[in-house]
Amino acid sequence: MRQVGKTKVLLVGSGAREHAIADALIAGGAEVYAYMQLLNPGIKKIAKKYDVGKAGDVASAVKFACENSAEIAVIGPETPLAAGIVDELKKAGVECVGPEKLHAQLETSKSFTRNLVKKYGIEGGIKFRIFTKGNATEAKQFIKELCSAGGCVVKPDGLTGGKGVKLTGEHLRNEDEVFAYCKDVLEAHPSVVIEERLEGEEFSLQTLTDGNGGFLHFPVVQDHKRAFENDCGPNTGGMGSYSDSNFLLPFLEAEDVEKAKTITEAVAAAIKKELGAPYRGVMYGGFMKTKAGIKLLEYNARFGDPETMNIMPLLRTSFLEICKATVEKRLAKLKVEFERKATVCKYVVPEGYPDNPVTGRIVVPEGGKSLVYYANVEERNDGIHTTKSRAVGFVGMADAINDAEKIAEEAASKVQGRVFHRKDIGTEKLLQKRIYHMKKVMEAGK
Ligand code: AMP
Ligand code: GLY
Repeated sequence: MRQVGKTKVLLVGSGAREHAIADALIAGGAEVYAYMQLLNPGIKKIAKKYDVGKAGDVASAVKFACENSAEIAVIGPETPLAAGIVDELKKAGVECVGPEKLHAQLETSKSFTRNLVKKYGIEGGIKFRIFTKGNATEAKQFIKELCSAGGCVVKPDGLTGGKGVKLTGEHLRNEDEVFAYCKDVLEAHPSVVIEERLEGEEFSLQTLTDGNGGFLHFPVVQDHKRAFENDCGPNTGGMGSYSDSNFLLPFLEAEDVEKAKTITEAVAAAIKKELGAPYRGVMYGGFMKTKAGIKLLEYNARFGDPETMNIMPLLRTSFLEICKATVEKRLAKLKVEFERKATVCKYVVPEGYPDNPVTGRIVVPEGGKSLVYYANVEERNDGIHTTKSRAVGFVGMADAINDAEKIAEEAASKVQGRVFHRKDIGTEKLLQKRIYHMKKVMEAGK
C-alpha cells in the first residue's frame, strides 16, 4: 500500500543524470515512477515502478504517469521536451518541472535564443548571423569577416546531441571548409547559425525557475567535452565535471557567476515577453569567461549531464520540496541550502567512444566512498553491459577538488571491462592549466 504523504513523481529519462535526480527525489521523500528508454539498473533498484519506452514516445509516458497517478513530472532529457511531453502531461493534470514545447526552443533552436538575447539587449550576446538555403551565398562575406577577426563557429539550428557544432582552428581549416560545412548543415536543417569564435574558459550555470520570478541557481560546474586527457580527441556528451566548495571555479570570480545569473534571469524575463507566457523548468546556461566578459554559448532546457551529478548530491534541501515549490510557483520563498563541498564526476565510457564504441560486459565497484550513477548500460542475465554511450558516472565529494578527484578516480579505475575514463579531470595539473589559460586570455584583452 502507498505510504501516506509520499508524493508520486514521474521521472522521464534513463541516464546517469536521471539516476542522480531519482536519488535526490527519493532522499527527499518522493515515490519515483521512472519512464526510461533503457532499463537503468540504478533507477530500477530505487524506483517504485518503471516502464521502458522510446524517449520521444510522449503518449506512452503520459499513459504511464496517469496509470500511476503521478502528481509531478521531472523531465530529464531534451528529446521528450522537444516532442511536447510537458504540454501533454499538463493536459492530463500532471504538473511539470520542465518547459512546454514552445519554450523548449530555448534549447532546440539556437537562432531563437541568439535572436532573443539580441532583441532584448541582454548582456552576453555575441556576433552572429542566421542563414537559410535562400541566402546561403551571403554567408561567405560574414565568414570572411569573422575569420579575419579571430575565427568562427557553425551551429546547426536544431537538436544535434551536441555533435553538430564545428569551429575554425579545430574542425574547419579555412573559409572554404566553413562554407562547405554550412551547406552540408542546410541539407539537414532549415537554418544555420554562424557566430564569432570566442576564446576563454567555459562553465555551466544550471538554474531552476518557476515562471513567477523565483530562481534557484545551482553551484557552477565545469564539464570536459573532449574524449581524451589533456582535452584532446573528439567532442563527447561530457567526460566528467567538477565544482568547488566556494561555489565558484578556480578561474572564476564571484562577479562572473553573478553576471551569468543576471543573464539567465534577463533571458527568462525576455522569454515571457516574447512568447506571452513564462518559462518554467531548468535553464542550463553554457557560458564562457572571455576577455570581453561573460558570454553566452547556449542554453539547454534541462539539467546537464554530467553536471547534474555534481549538484544533486550537494543539496541539503529536499529536491522534492524544490520541485513542489517550482510547480507551485513559490521558489523565491524556499530557502535552499547546499553542502559546502567540492565535487568531481568522472564518466567511464566504452573503449572507442564516441566514434566506435565497443559493447561488452563490465564489473562496476559499489560500496566505496564514491557515489555511483549508471548511464547507458544494459542489465543482462550475466551482468551489466555497455552500449554505445557513456556507461557509469562516479562522483567524489570532499572539502577540496583534489580530494574529491581521488575518490572518483579510485572508483572509476576499478571498473573492469573494455572501458576508459579521463584520469586528469579534477587533478591539480588540469586545474592549473585552466587557471593559466584564463590568465593568458585576460592578459591578451588588456
Ligand atoms: P554548444 O552546443 O553551442 O554548447 O557548442 C558546443 C561546444 O562548442 C561548446 O561547449 C564550446 O566548447 C564550443 N563553442 C560553441 N560556441 C562557441 C563559440 N562561439 N566560441 C567558441 N567555442 C564555442
Ligand atoms: N554537459 C553537456 C550537456 O548536458 O549538454
